[in-house]
Amino acid sequence: MKASFSRGSIALYHADCRVWLAEQEPNSIQAVVTDPPYGLVEYSPKEQAKLRAGKGGVWRIPPAIGGSKRAPLPRFTVLSDSELTYLFEFFSEWANLLIRVLCPGAYAIVATNPLFNHVVSQAVVGAGFEKRGEVVRLVRTLRGGDRPKGAESEFPGVSAMPRSGWEPWLLFRKRLEGTLADNLRTWEVGALRRPSDDEPFVDVIPSGRTPRAEKRIAPHPSLKPQGFLRQMVRAALPMGTGVILDPFAGSGSTLAASEALGYRAIGVESDERFVELAASAIPQLSAIQAADHSAVSVHMWGQGTRDSREASPSRNGESRQ
Ligand SMILES: C[S@@+](CC[C@H](N)C(=O)[O-])C[C@H]1O[C@@H](n2cnc3c(N)ncnc32)[C@H](O)[C@@H]1O
Repeated sequence: MKASFSRGSIALYHADCRVWLAEQEPNSIQAVVTDPPYGLVEYSPKEQAKLRAGKGGVWRIPPAIGGSKRAPLPRFTVLSDSELTYLFEFFSEWANLLIRVLCPGAYAIVATNPLFNHVVSQAVVGAGFEKRGEVVRLVRTLRGGDRPKGAESEFPGVSAMPRSGWEPWLLFRKRLEGTLADNLRTWEVGALRRPSDDEPFVDVIPSGRTPRAEKRIAPHPSLKPQGFLRQMVRAALPMGTGVILDPFAGSGSTLAASEALGYRAIGVESDERFVELAASAIPQLSAIQAADHSAVSVHMWGQGTRDSREASPSRNGESRQ
């Protein structure tokens, strides 16, 4: 398969990642950092056409608040049992294809959603991966917190579900060959890279919403911020060597983060419009100075982080980011 876009150490393919994975050599990729479609249906051609036509569908288009337009939010809470079964089957198939292509000890860092992470975990572990915990990305989204629909004034003191203040990024690993040290020597993977020799990698990471400047460069409905992605990408290659794969590349933000760090990366994206977007966005995203939220972590368990202060829904309207 020929790359649709390549630049230096980065290549992007326009394909269904399942087809692409089936064509790859075994043990050829060292890490995955990816943000799949949580509900799968929201990135189907039918739902994307409805979103682009402003007709909603599975995408809820929230009313403007205080004059500022809010971004569409997928309605995952309404997924039916059969859609959840489809989600499980999709991730089982995906994980079975992926495990063959990854080197022993390779990490797969997979963004999910508090409503579905159990489904994704069950499918990926079922394919033979080990679960190695999860990273909590602290970010105030607009998900949840609403009063019961149609009965808001009857139940003013009730939230149907929590207003979400975090996003799970699941950590999976292909089983090691021998000990961790053996695996590191042979395959150069099996562990997570420390931010510095004195600091371990930690699994709660303060993160802001995706900055407006990044959204202007890459107007994808699920754009993730460079500040957070660069930390995930850096951690995924413990020796700083190897290839990062993003099989659901969207606007190419993982590839841009990899390029910014000097890593090699491959992306796969099934929607032609996002492939075109990624080709123009990657050079610009990789060049930006990413926001640093590390100062927040010191006070993470205190009365309020910089993130929570920033997270006024009336000022910002992102859905998933
Ligand atoms: C949640 S978005 C990722 C957005 C990305 N994090 C970013 O910052 O731009 C998931 C992407 O996966 C793509 N996608 C869905 N199914 C796919 C498949 N089977 N193979 C490859 N890409 C797929 C969608 O078109 C969508 O762009």
